Amino acid sequence: MNKKAKNLKVSAPGKIILSGEYAVVYGHPALLTAVSRRLSITSEGGKKRLIDSNIPIGCGRGSSAAYAVAISALKLKLGGGQWDLEKINKEAYKIEKRRHGNPSGGDNTISTYGGFLWYRKEAESLKIFSKISPSKNFPKIFFIDTGKPDESTKEMVSMVGKYYKNHRKKIERIFVNIEGITRAFLKLLTGEENASSVELLKENEKLLEKLDVVSLFTQFIIRKIEKMGGAAKILGAGGKKLGSGIILCYHSNPDKLLKFAEKENLDMFNLKLGEKGVRVDGTS
Ligand code: PMV
Repeated sequence: MNKKAKNLKVSAPGKIILSGEYAVVYGHPALLTAVSRRLSITSEGGKKRLIDSNIPIGCGRGSSAAYAVAISALKLKLGGGQWDLEKINKEAYKIEKRRHGNPSGGDNTISTYGGFLWYRKEAESLKIFSKISPSKNFPKIFFIDTGKPDESTKEMVSMVGKYYKNHRKKIERIFVNIEGITRAFLKLLTGEENASSVELLKENEKLLEKLDVVSLFTQFIIRKIEKMGGAAKILGAGGKKLGSGIILCYHSNPDKLLKFAEKENLDMFNLKLGEKGVRVDGTS
């Protein structure tokens, strides 16, 4: 950082996983996008740190990864280092590992680079990703809040890890099926093929329910959306006992979703997808 600069503000975005959660921890691909909610950290006089965020905590929106990315970027700049996304991403991954135990690394990567990414952890030492340009015709999606999960991402990932250890063949089959959906979703996103969003989301959700990461309350909400002709899936780690965080919803007639959310007293909103990755917001 410029030695004369006293204050530095950096920010990093939250994210959603369009397809591939859990499978991505075990080497399958995921499709991720950064969303229009950011966490910023301001360092005043090179030390007192102020954190400001509009990413809700603990509901599949990548708040912890955004923190890990922003703090890594801030430290790099304060230490006089060159702006280097690869370095920032590597440091953020280390923080995520300390906090979550066995993260895929997808969350910190999308928060670092932003946009839309195809991500795959081939091995601990090789994580590959590629930027994706979504087609303009990509279906309009919405989000409904099912409530904060009782469990942390770490607990959920470790629970699925136990299933994987004890029923490896069965869980691996689920992951392979999730990968098929992620691949179909990629083609839908890029406009290469015109798969049915409803069918893909329904199938994805069914597989996530087989992993036991969706609470009964959330399943109840999602079944109602399906009955109306729409579809929805959990995002990120989900949640088993109470809420499962926000769910991604699609209906060819969004008004129906809106009316449903109003009737059920659920918060429904949309988010701008493809948000920019980590950045310096100001120095003075
Ligand atoms: O709940 P989140 O936003 O932390 O997302 C977790 C996504 C998982 O695939 C379940 C775990 C991971 O590290 O990718």
